[in-house]
Amino acid sequence: MGVSEPNAGSGDRPGPRHVAIIMDGNGRWAQARGRPRLFGHHAGAKRVREIVECCPDLGVKYLTIFAFSTENWKRTQVEVAGLMSLFRRYISKEMNALAAQNVRVRFIGDRVRLDAKLIDLMDKLECNTAGNDGTHLTIALNYGGRDEVARATKRLAQDVAAGKLDPEKVDEETLPRYLDTHVLPDPDLVVRTSGEARISNFLLWQSAYAEYEFIDTLWPDFSKEELGRLCTNYGKRDRRFGAVKT
Ligand code: FPP
Repeated sequence: MGVSEPNAGSGDRPGPRHVAIIMDGNGRWAQARGRPRLFGHHAGAKRVREIVECCPDLGVKYLTIFAFSTENWKRTQVEVAGLMSLFRRYISKEMNALAAQNVRVRFIGDRVRLDAKLIDLMDKLECNTAGNDGTHLTIALNYGGRDEVARATKRLAQDVAAGKLDPEKVDEETLPRYLDTHVLPDPDLVVRTSGEARISNFLLWQSAYAEYEFIDTLWPDFSKEELGRLCTNYGKRDRRFGAVKT
């Protein structure tokens, strides 16, 4: 879909229409309370609900959240299993509320390593919310930007080999059609919580022109007020997409 249209948010300038969030800091949040890391992930899941709910008020039409990366399998077996169980619980528990709130849910990432029960719930949630046209919530699960580009390139190459695509016609509009995000606009604003200033393989292609906010708040402490402030900041930025201001 490419660079997104600005939204019609309140104030003098439009706020971001698509916000993508790297939800970091759950482990440190739990550690600070003397609790296991999974306690922080559960607190993080509660925060997801509040942030999804505030999107319509902020004019955020697309929200994309990084729930589990292709690198997160390197964590302990206990943490990985706990996170997978949390995702299953979250989907089952939130299914009706998300459908009723007119949220359309999509998942991006490679499903091959996910268990069958989780994949089934993901399919159900996508299917049950497919007719909704409110907030578009995209959950990145077993997602890595490089992995996504590699998988897209493989499919593109298969189309070339099958004679469906002329290699001479491949340009920068072609590859995004093969990405997991092909129906989404590019993010306008990428937020990372917890004080780390890196993008950790998130939406690499799609964020070429995004604005970034690296904030110190740990994800379980992130609030709708803080997201509102970041949306206001975004509206004050001068976005030129490589052009010169006239
Ligand atoms: C990073 O914090 C967070 C994750 C790897 C998991 C993100 C998951 C959630 C917020 C849970 C719920 C999500 C959904 C969609 C239900 P970290 O563990 O790396 O924290 P640390 O850097 O402090 O150790």
